[in-house]
Amino acid sequence: MESFIPQMEPWFGEEERIAMDDYLGHGGWITEFKKTQEFEQMIAEFTGAKHCIVVNNGTISLTLAALAAGIKAGVEVIVPNFTMIATPNSIKMFGAKPVVVDVEPETLCLNIDLVKKAITSKTKAIFFVSANGRYPKSGIEAFVNLAKENNLILLEDSAQSLGSFYPNGKHIGREGLIGSFSFSAPKVISTGQGGALITDDDDMAHKIKRLKDFGRSGGGNDIHDSIGWNFKFTDIQAVIGIEQMKKLQWRVDRKKEIWKLYKEQLKDISQIKFFDQDIKNTTPWFMDVLANDRENLQSYLKEQGIGTRIMYPPINKQKAYNIGGEYSISNLVGEKGLWLPSAAQLSDNEIIKITNGIHQFYS
Ligand SMILES: Cc1ncc(COP(=O)(O)O)c(C=O)c1O
Repeated sequence: MESFIPQMEPWFGEEERIAMDDYLGHGGWITEFKKTQEFEQMIAEFTGAKHCIVVNNGTISLTLAALAAGIKAGVEVIVPNFTMIATPNSIKMFGAKPVVVDVEPETLCLNIDLVKKAITSKTKAIFFVSANGRYPKSGIEAFVNLAKENNLILLEDSAQSLGSFYPNGKHIGREGLIGSFSFSAPKVISTGQGGALITDDDDMAHKIKRLKDFGRSGGGNDIHDSIGWNFKFTDIQAVIGIEQMKKLQWRVDRKKEIWKLYKEQLKDISQIKFFDQDIKNTTPWFMDVLANDRENLQSYLKEQGIGTRIMYPPINKQKAYNIGGEYSISNLVGEKGLWLPSAAQLSDNEIIKITNGIHQFYS
């Protein structure tokens, strides 16, 4: 029997096993130490950022980015209405107010014209989310300028964007004051759980390091000159992360090939619509499309052993938020958005099987 093709699965190989065996065989601190520093260094080098600090997940990394940047309870932060719920939740945790704004149809990134309208005297920051590695059609520079003109802080939720670059060559996450990544199970690379913050700002890096380590004034001591918590990583995760980073370029290349093959195979199907992915500079983390008759397509594919996942429902319609207003693009994604199988280890034959299944469904 052919095996089920999941929508996504993490991928660990011999390299992770050998590295972990070696690490555990030589004694180590287990908690974050030298391996974590090595992992941070690799991310800093890959992204070109001056500093990288890793933390326990990509939600807390958003919270710490906001706290380090001085965002406080009661202020407003603009977030897209299409994003993973972690983006608004990360700041709600300490009492800031997420203000949802609709996204562009082409990229599902924040719509700058709507952002301009949403700015009030209470707005302190914009959380820009690079949806599936994409940058906005309006250009990220327009967001940088808008933030400057209005004295706002631009933060980047780049959780889905490791391996994606702006057309100016900068890695996504580097145009804001701080960029944040996630290494949860389905991400481009994974450490099980994990998050990273990148910044070129020495003061931000200093603050983030304090916030994640009980506000300690230095490594390992018990002198606390500020308030902080424990959002640390572990060397066990870093051992895996280092091996995953070594495979990153291969994964980036393979994800791009997979996206191109899907697009080619589905080009004649009017019921499936792709987004504007700049495949030269950006890396599709998930293969995202708008699909007519989505739920029936999902069931049909499932019967053929193919897993899919519906894209994030709009934040405003989540019971946890329940915000009124018109958000036509994120609502459309809520009705038609579908993630097709997206693991880097998918073979071309498997993709052909999936796209044949889609052809059969619509014919
Ligand atoms: C845009 C975005 N932000 C934040 C997160 C949260 O990351 P984590 O699961 O590591 O907490 C995710 C994870 O899916 C995400 O896609």
